[in-house]
Amino acid sequence: MYIYNDIDQRLVDDRVSLFRDQTRRFLNGSLSEDDYRPLRLQNGLYIQRQSPMLRVAIPYGTLSSQQMRALARIARTWDRGYGHFTTRCNIQFNWVRLAEVPEILAELAKVQMHAIQTSGNCIRNITTDQFAGVAADEIFDPRPYCEIVRQWSTLAPEFLFLPRKFKIAIAGGKEDRAAVRFHDIGALAKLDADGQPGFEIHVGGGLGRTPMLGQCIKPFLPRAELINYFEAILRVYNRYGRRDNKYKARIKILVKDLTPEKFSQEVEEEWAYSRNGPNTISNAGFAAMEAFFTGPNYLERIPHDPASLDALRNNRIYSRWVARNVALHRKPGYRIVTLSLKKTGIPPGDATADQMDAISVLADRFSAGEIRVTHEQNLILPHVAKNDLFELWAIASAYGLASPNIGLLTDVVCCPGGDFCSLANAKSIPVATAIQERFDKLDYLFDLGPLELNISGCVNACGHHHIGHIGILGVDKNNEEWYQITMGGREGKRANIGRVIGPSFAAADIPETINTLLETYVRLRHEGELFIDTVERVGLTPFKLAVYGGAHEANH
Ligand code: HEM
Ligand code: SF4
Repeated sequence: MYIYNDIDQRLVDDRVSLFRDQTRRFLNGSLSEDDYRPLRLQNGLYIQRQSPMLRVAIPYGTLSSQQMRALARIARTWDRGYGHFTTRCNIQFNWVRLAEVPEILAELAKVQMHAIQTSGNCIRNITTDQFAGVAADEIFDPRPYCEIVRQWSTLAPEFLFLPRKFKIAIAGGKEDRAAVRFHDIGALAKLDADGQPGFEIHVGGGLGRTPMLGQCIKPFLPRAELINYFEAILRVYNRYGRRDNKYKARIKILVKDLTPEKFSQEVEEEWAYSRNGPNTISNAGFAAMEAFFTGPNYLERIPHDPASLDALRNNRIYSRWVARNVALHRKPGYRIVTLSLKKTGIPPGDATADQMDAISVLADRFSAGEIRVTHEQNLILPHVAKNDLFELWAIASAYGLASPNIGLLTDVVCCPGGDFCSLANAKSIPVATAIQERFDKLDYLFDLGPLELNISGCVNACGHHHIGHIGILGVDKNNEEWYQITMGGREGKRANIGRVIGPSFAAADIPETINTLLETYVRLRHEGELFIDTVERVGLTPFKLAVYGGAHEANH
């Protein structure tokens, strides 16, 4: 992974001492609430329902075991013993004390981490495919590009006061595992006819109040021009983006209003100024960055291990875990392991300090000290030798990290909702728990097959409900908490935005309603057909009829 140089380290250290002084002045009354607010937000510190909350950046979701240990220490020393991994691959600490935040930032700086640009109208944490660098289907490794973009965008004066926040995702695989079409800019790896690397560029995707799919404005951008072209996009956005109306300020509205064609033309004109300019990525510059991402020394041959085959045959729970939580690696003899943060009854994405410590130990022992965070709120060990899987599973199980449910119904993606978030219309964690409890039978989950269920506590869509095969959105009706269900959302290359199936439900009715949707799918599916494919084939009507009956049809 990238290692800070002296300049990076000084920048982060200086920021800590600045913020320490700002917080001291706020606490002794010499800085007003209004003056302090933007300063704390620039350091990822929100004031939420119960307590201040700190959002820490995890650039492109990569953590070393040492960084994970530091997060565990922070959770234990300055929070209530846990942290929340988010759909944007950050971690949030929900119970920090304002006076202690400078201490936390100092602790983070020791392991080359910070909370800069995790809030505000700037370029936020860059995200990527959680399998970057190890995926069997990878075209090229996106991480060096993510780091180049991170360095360019961190504290870039021109882009610190955009009309609205700005999210960039870069993916390197044939499959899109980074939801690129739901980002302000999404870049997909591509090779040109001569095999030269570049990107297909999408702009104007996003969820929130007005969900939209990003539009392709450049089918192939040579890699050297990545920053120049991003700069052109941001300049056009900075110039024309709406600053008069917060709800229309995202780039998606600009792209829609101008049309993607006109927007792309504006970008091309702007790009003419920066093309081949100082931010062009040279081959030498790229090679220097790539050297940070070479990966561990893999063994050329992993010896055949009959014991692991026996374990697979004789241990049903283990074999299920291998089926769901272990993915192919591009190196023979290695596998990618997903540690589930979706144990029934634990808020999705939460990890305790003890779990974080255990994960660091697992990473050191089995995965060259490396961990990834997924946008589905799970963690990845990317370099595991096949023969180590059983031992790893046994330890992970003991720490509650081995639920064999990756990609299944109970792998619920969920924002903190009304339990923590001051913007929430409704709670989301108890809804996730109720669903997990109701559908806790593994046989049934395996029979249902891959199924994504996402929950957000309000229209801001932090739980990505629009892209869940089933989405649940908390809504407020006369000060009561209700839940609207969407279906048909999907990420990846066939991305789609879910549609509302009808009137909303009370919390208590959600598990039964989900059950009706699942029974309808089981009745209608062709052999081997995925839930989402059945929904796309038959449309919403049979599901609506099953849930609401004919009365609903008559009303709509
Ligand atoms: C302090 C708590 C939080 C606040 C105040 C907050 C605020 C917001 C707001 C206002 C939006 C709408 C932005 C827009 O459409 O322009 C949004 C969107 C979003 N937030 Fe959060 N959020 C919080 C926590 C989270 C958490 C915990 C996650 C991950 C679980 C998250 C991930 C996202 C994502 C993925 C979006 C998607 C919308 C998009 O950018 O297109 N946020 N958030
Ligand atoms: S979706 Fe709404 S309730 Fe959930 S974290 Fe985002 S802002 Fe809060």
